[in-house]
Amino acid sequence: MNLTVSYIQERIKNFKPEIGIILGSGLGDFADNFESVKIPYKDIPGFENSEVQGHKGQLIFAKVNGKNTVIMQGRYHFYEGYSMQTVTYPVKILKKLGIKTLIITNAAGAVNENFNPGDLMFITDHINFMGTNPLIGKNDDTLGVRFPDMSEVYSKKLINLAQETAEKLKIKYQKGVYIATTGPSYETPAEIKMFRLLGASAVGMSTVPEAIIANYCGLDVLGISCLTNYAAGVSNNPLNHEEVIETANKVKESFKLLLSEFIKRL
Ligand code: HPA
Repeated sequence: MNLTVSYIQERIKNFKPEIGIILGSGLGDFADNFESVKIPYKDIPGFENSEVQGHKGQLIFAKVNGKNTVIMQGRYHFYEGYSMQTVTYPVKILKKLGIKTLIITNAAGAVNENFNPGDLMFITDHINFMGTNPLIGKNDDTLGVRFPDMSEVYSKKLINLAQETAEKLKIKYQKGVYIATTGPSYETPAEIKMFRLLGASAVGMSTVPEAIIANYCGLDVLGISCLTNYAAGVSNNPLNHEEVIETANKVKESFKLLLSEFIKRL
């Protein structure tokens, strides 16, 4: 971990990030217009080379509305075969680089029948349905405790700020519980029915491992899902990745606006 941190610090000189952002499927170009230092994951000792449709795989260090920000353009997914350690390693590194706040974004299916593709949803809580936990293994006491409290993983203060920001910008939003599966298959209609009974409003294949680690190491987390499709069985349409990317692309502009205005107000 020290080698990773020192390699990055060498590249960014005395830039000290305060805010971290993980960009989800189709939302990856948020960082494209900022003057920045870009470091591909493949160049970073300790990172693995990520490749998945719709993702690039680099860290971007930039000033966003006056705030020092580090952006993960692309993330590691458990369904790609990476271990939970690999999936969450970047979050630990961002913590070591000094961030206090982590904004985690994703594309997700709408489980709540009142929500629609194109809606943004602020995550109020999550259900870990991945069947494993990124903290399994020896504990690193320099990062957090063995048995971390999980009663407010997603900061109420940040959700309030995000709501105020969305209202000011007249961007429609929802709030709800995100449930994470391993993927990569989408869910069956029966699974979605169960998830609804369990209290979930959105379903996806990411975010939860990163949020567990962020909470563990004391970061304030805001989670935003871009609802890209009705979850299985909600409508009669079969699901596909192209639809996910297409909807994410449609929402991208208002999403980027929300993100940069939110950062300004942080
Ligand atoms: N299910 C799981 N993950 C997803 C979905 C979905 O419907 N849409 C986007 N990511």
